[in-house]
Amino acid sequence: MNSARDVQAPPGLTNLPPLPLFLGRADALDHLHGTSGEGPEQRASGATVIHGLGGVGKSTLALAHAHRHLRDHTVVWWITAASSAHIERSLGELALHLFPAWAGSASAEERAAWATTWRALSLPGGRSAESRGL
Ligand SMILES: Nc1ncnc2c1ncn2[C@@H]1O[C@H](COP(=O)(O)OP(=O)(O)OP(=O)(O)O)[C@@H](O)[C@H]1O
Ligand SMILES: [Mg+2]
Repeated sequence: MNSARDVQAPPGLTNLPPLPLFLGRADALDHLHGTSGEGPEQRASGATVIHGLGGVGKSTLALAHAHRHLRDHTVVWWITAASSAHIERSLGELALHLFPAWAGSASAEERAAWATTWRALSLPGGRSAESRGL
């Protein structure tokens, strides 16, 4: 598990689903960019919540944002959060891509935990925070 600190992602690693037809929403995309931790005054570890009525296009907006900024990041990973099992599966797939030698024989829970640790260490300041014992 400690090897999470040593694993570097290959640039361009992604599991983004293709973007379906996406019309309009230019203002929402700009706003999302400004609040999603990628604006000049934001921390890259920030989270943004998109809310609204069912079916108004929340997931598609997030997907369009992810595609628009795909090249700005080393890893872009789409985590399906319909249930805790879905989250575990998506994180587990990330572990399988990053550390197949270990993840191939790990449990789904172990894979997800490893990917969570890897993500925390990979955020800006993550590895230095760990080395300071934080
Ligand atoms: N900007 C857009 N242009 C064209 N079609 C869109 C756009 N946004 C969403 N859609 C279509 O509308 C439907 C619902 O979109 P989406 O699944 O993103 O909604 P949602 O708000 O995430 O729904 P839910 O509340 O069920 O999670 C999908 O078929 C999607 O392809
Ligand atoms: Mg949705």
